Amino acid sequence: MKLVVNGTSHEVDVEAEMPLLWVLRDEIGLTGTKYGCGVAACGACTVHIDGVAVRSCQTPVGDVTGAVTTIEGLGDPAALHAVQEAWAEHQVAQCGYCQSGQIMQAADLLANNPDPSDADIDEAMSGNLCRCGTYPRIRAAVKTAATKMQEA
Ligand code: FES
Ligand code: FES
Repeated sequence: MKLVVNGTSHEVDVEAEMPLLWVLRDEIGLTGTKYGCGVAACGACTVHIDGVAVRSCQTPVGDVTGAVTTIEGLGDPAALHAVQEAWAEHQVAQCGYCQSGQIMQAADLLANNPDPSDADIDEAMSGNLCRCGTYPRIRAAVKTAATKMQEA
């Protein structure tokens, strides 16, 4: 089947029930998207389909009809997405494992709510768990990213 990921079309020979997460990681080689729980409960596997954050561990690849964006395609090294820039400025990551999912979720939030309150951020990010407890830096980085996006 055909899958468009980060603007590139891929032909993948897999079962339709295979979770998108494993197609991205094992078939296409994009390992920035992480496996945490496998049951849509942690957010580590978050990617975008047509700009909307989804849990790729619980998304059968056969159900994907839109364009997929992963952390590798959100920005590029020469022109980072505002969320990636803000994450770097705040040095949000500790072990880093949850962070690609956090960034993809935050990018979805800001696309829909350009000026989120603390409560908005906490609600939107509540399904993305971080065992290292980086939540205060996540909230600060989302606010910085919001400012960057408003100024751009
Ligand atoms: S691995 Fe998908 S939500 Fe945890
Ligand atoms: S930075 Fe370690 S789990 Fe979030």
